[in-house]
Amino acid sequence: MKKRLSRPVTILTLALVFFFNFSLSAQEIPTDEAAIKAGEALFNGNCKSCHRVKQKLVGPALAGVEDRAPSVSWIISWVRNPAKVIASGDEYANKIYNEYNKSQMTAFTSYTDEQILSILAYVKADAARVDAPAPGTTTADNTGGGAGVPSGYLNAILIGLVVILVLLLIILSLIINALKKYLDQKDLTEDEKEVVHSKYTFNTIIKSSGFIFIVIFLVASITFKNVIDGLYSIGIQQNYQPKQPIAFSHKIHAGQYEIECRYCHTGALKGKQANIPSANICMNCHSQIREGTNTGTTEISKIYAAIGYDPATGSYTGKQKPIEWVRIHNLPDLAYFNHAQHNNVGGIECQTCHGPIEEMDVVKQYSLLTMGWCIDCHRKTDVNTKGNEYYDKLLELHNSKKSLKVEDIGGLECAKCHY
Ligand code: HEC
Ligand code: HEC
Ligand code: HEC
Ligand code: HEC
Ligand code: HEC
Ligand code: HEC
Repeated sequence: MKKRLSRPVTILTLALVFFFNFSLSAQEIPTDEAAIKAGEALFNGNCKSCHRVKQKLVGPALAGVEDRAPSVSWIISWVRNPAKVIASGDEYANKIYNEYNKSQMTAFTSYTDEQILSILAYVKADAARVDAPAPGTTTADNTGGGAGVPSGYLNAILIGLVVILVLLLIILSLIINALKKYLDQKDLTEDEKEVVHSKYTFNTIIKSSGFIFIVIFLVASITFKNVIDGLYSIGIQQNYQPKQPIAFSHKIHAGQYEIECRYCHTGALKGKQANIPSANICMNCHSQIREGTNTGTTEISKIYAAIGYDPATGSYTGKQKPIEWVRIHNLPDLAYFNHAQHNNVGGIECQTCHGPIEEMDVVKQYSLLTMGWCIDCHRKTDVNTKGNEYYDKLLELHNSKKSLKVEDIGGLECAKCHY
């Protein structure tokens, strides 16, 4: 009897254990590629505005959270409804809530366990990855010089060499003169005298018409080249890099923290102007981030002064004054340029025209911004016709084997760029 009973019992126990284990394993962080990929997409879409894996942003760095937080199931209920976990009096939840100045994390009520676990899978995988060297460290600067010695130093070295050569010439001629005087006091034969007073002395060469012609020619052509260069650079502001009223760094915001350009430059895909962000946009983060690693509180407090915010009380005083950013890129009024047409329709990256902004602490004008620069690109660049019905008919008509350049749709017509 006993024996007979024990069998179904063991099966039942095994089944229970199996089932229990299974439901437990659903709470475990998966390690497969598919889950990591899915988690990455969810993280980038929903969490990245406040969290990074290895850096503190508005919320904590998420690396290692599975060890730090009470349990994986705690994390799941937290992500679904942080306010509820805090309200329940949970000790850990209240600790981090206070640590982050009581800023509310968004609730993701519709997330399944699987989705939240996949985010954790991504965080874990990303935390384990060794950082690659910062991108773009090898790109050469467009200001010339390229790799190696900057052109400024080269010029200095060249000028130094010329000065040394001239000094040497002067010293040598002084020595020659002294020697001649010395030799003249001796009794020399006619032959020897001829050698000493040879026609080709330093003085006779300098005074010869050939030499004078060469010197005048060199001076004239250098002056001419400078004048022409000067004329061509009138109105050109390439490399213009003014100091801004707040030491705002694209290297920190767009580079290190990878904040999207259009998060701040809201018009870049929608309209003519890319727009400079208002202080409200800064406050989305800086109501929490009150101190920078490089400048402490001095620079960030200028944002508070501009928008009339008192960080001590966390309230707005109503006393505002605009931040006077210095405009860097500025076409003359006679020219029309539209950001949406280039970025949204044309699919051109910001960096093509503005350079590696995400590496600049202080923004500078990277491109020439001359008419020739616009035209040159319109001659060389294909129109981005992919998935754009507007161009379907045109492509049909333009059935030559050549690709459709901007030139072919009227990109060189004066009236397209001039009012
Ligand atoms: C609006 C900003 C915001 C968004 C979006 C956000 N979080 Fe948070 N998160 C926070 C803040 C702030 C905290 C710190 C606790 C607090 O103040 O509520 C936090 C805390 C956490 C914690 C606890 C961290 C720890 O160190 O214990 C986890 C886990 C977490 N968030 C996961 C997520 C996930 C996953 C997403 C995306 C699905 C997400 N968060 C989206 C702001 C955000
Ligand atoms: C956090 C907000 C923020 C982000 C993100 C950001 N910018 Fe800016 N950007 C600013 C502010 C503020 C200024 C004005 C101050 C300055 O010139 O540094 C500015 C200025 C500029 C200028 C010069 C404007 C002028 O006066 O001619 C360019 C070009 C620019 N940004 C391009 C970019 C690009 C490209 C990206 C993405 C890689 C980007 N920005 C990301 C806030 C931002
Ligand atoms: C999406 C979030 C976000 C936005 C929006 C944002 N910042 Fe920041 N900012 C940060 C982070 C993160 C830091 C780095 C803090 C640190 O150094 O630890 C920072 C640092 C700074 C610093 C200090 C740099 C230093 O190292 O001392 C200044 C100044 C600053 N931001 C100005 C601005 C201005 C002006 C705007 C609006 C045009 C702005 N920020 C918008 C996230 C943001
Ligand atoms: C085809 C070249 C080109 C591309 C691509 C481009 N810009 Fe510009 N950008 C310009 C020119 C030209 C100006 C000067 C416009 C003027 O003075 O009217 C300018 C001006 C700006 C300004 C100064 C303020 C303003 O709104 O005019 C900002 C900010 C800016 N660009 C940001 C961006 C961002 C962000 C992107 C990417 C989303 C981008 N640009 C892509 C050429 C470009
Ligand atoms: C990096 C390449 C590039 C540069 C630089 C550039 N453009 Fe363009 N431009 C394009 C492309 C690509 C298009 C086609 C967009 C489309 O599909 O409508 C375009 C289209 C245009 C159009 C619309 C033409 C039409 O027939 O509809 C105008 C106007 C224009 N650009 C003006 C300018 C001006 C002004 C400048 C200089 C300040 C400039 N562009 C610099 C690539 C460039
Ligand atoms: C792709 C756009 C584009 C097209 C097409 C274009 N221009 Fe321009 N043009 C510009 C820009 C941008 C400037 C301003 C350049 C600067 O500030 O250096 C300019 C400047 C000029 C100037 C100089 C004005 C001054 O005060 O310096 C003249 C003149 C001019 N364009 C005439 C023309 C004529 C004529 C045509 C037709 C054959 C034409 N442009 C076609 C973009 C264009």
